[in-house]
Amino acid sequence: MKYRIGISQCSDDIWRDKQNAELRMGAYFHDNVELKFAAAYDSDERQVEQIDSLVNDGIDLLIVAPNQVQTISPAIDRAYDKGIPVIVFERKTSSQKHTAFISADNYEMGRVMGEYIVSRLHGQGTLLEIKGLEGSSPAIERHNGFMDAIKDAPGIKVVGSLQGDWTEPTAYERTKQWLANHKDVRVDLVFGANDRTAMGARRAFQLLTQSGEAGRGPLFCGIDGLPGENGGIQLVRDSLLDASYIYPTHGDQIIELAVNILEGKPYEKETLMMSALVTSDNAKVLLMQGEELMRQAAQLDMLHEKADSYLHKLDTQRIINWLAIGVIALLVIVFVLFYLYHLRKIALQRERVVNTLWNLKPEDVPAAAEPTETSEESSHSSDGSEALDNTDDNESVAVSHFITRFKEVIESRLDDSDVGVEDLAADMNLSRVQLYRKVKSISGSSPVELLRTARLNRAYQLLLTTDKSVSEVAYAVGFTAPSYFTKCFKEEYGMVPGDVRK
Ligand code: FRU
Repeated sequence: MKYRIGISQCSDDIWRDKQNAELRMGAYFHDNVELKFAAAYDSDERQVEQIDSLVNDGIDLLIVAPNQVQTISPAIDRAYDKGIPVIVFERKTSSQKHTAFISADNYEMGRVMGEYIVSRLHGQGTLLEIKGLEGSSPAIERHNGFMDAIKDAPGIKVVGSLQGDWTEPTAYERTKQWLANHKDVRVDLVFGANDRTAMGARRAFQLLTQSGEAGRGPLFCGIDGLPGENGGIQLVRDSLLDASYIYPTHGDQIIELAVNILEGKPYEKETLMMSALVTSDNAKVLLMQGEELMRQAAQLDMLHEKADSYLHKLDTQRIINWLAIGVIALLVIVFVLFYLYHLRKIALQRERVVNTLWNLKPEDVPAAAEPTETSEESSHSSDGSEALDNTDDNESVAVSHFITRFKEVIESRLDDSDVGVEDLAADMNLSRVQLYRKVKSISGSSPVELLRTARLNRAYQLLLTTDKSVSEVAYAVGFTAPSYFTKCFKEEYGMVPGDVRK
């Protein structure tokens, strides 16, 4: 049985891309898992619709990162109430209706980042905060942790707190606007709720730097710390960001959790994933490690593709094998049928031989004979119908006698290869022409044909009843060449002499 797991992502960005790839990779290890992805592109309505539709599609488990705490809960509750296990990951809901929750600690992340910033600024400086999407739990928790960390640092002053939505363009626009309204406010450090937000703010500040309105510009800190091209770690290594915090994606771990739930194995109801601060001190090493992991993941992906293509080939091969077996079976059936047909033909042939005209009793022969001398005489009788009947009777008797006699003549000459129609006619006391006419009118065949039929007929009997070889039989019935005998036999019976004994 296949488990169908629905994955409802609140958004679509590089962090989600990495996680989706890991979710897929996690599924590689389970033949019985099928994933169905949906991305809501930061829209509550869309995510609610997508969850309902996944549930209607009959998924066995739902993995969901709810866009906001309140808005998505009803859809998640509906799924849960239908008995579908629900894993909420990374962002929280307002309801307790879920089977498991897995995330990093967003409050702790904000707090650690706050502590880092305080120490980075040596306890003195001004901050601009750009928060994550309003109403989404990581935004709230990161903010709370951050504020708790800096509240004890009297030299740190938050000069602005802007509402972002996790995206770079929004952060850029809001920061640009804020800067336009706070031209004289000095900012030492910007804390963006994620790296994209921090980078959006940075772009806005750069405008001022380029126009010469600002000095060196502030430091920028964010959260996510993704490995790879343009990920937070690289941005820190290249000093575009001052610090980031790894927000673990761990899609494969989420799939493991899902499979444990589906298979009724023990699982953690709440999992907190470990994570770490990224600064200029460790960015280089982390990047190397991250790249190494990505390289291995890519290899795993390749292996999976290869395995997939082998399996595909195997499937095709299997189909070809079955087809080949089918064709062979068909051929065998055709062959057997053909052989049976052949046997049947031989049997029919045997019957035919038995029923051949030559074997008919004289009384079975149709009275289509040429008028004989006797019949001619009788037909002159003036004695009406009775005379006619008599004539017919006499004719039949004459034909019968003639056939019997002719049979005897032929049979006595069967083994004589030199015998000709003349000899037969002489034996019958007839001329060659007379014999021809008479025989032809009675049997429809010429004397030579009947002689040949009789030879072959006798050959057939000899083949059936004696151990004589084909050549011996050929000679015994008056053929001088066995090959010619075989040819005639085949013409007559549709089979070669050897077939008679099969
Ligand atoms: C990705 C993302 C991350 C952020 C997280 C918060 O969709 O916006 O950048 O850390 O979601 O849930």
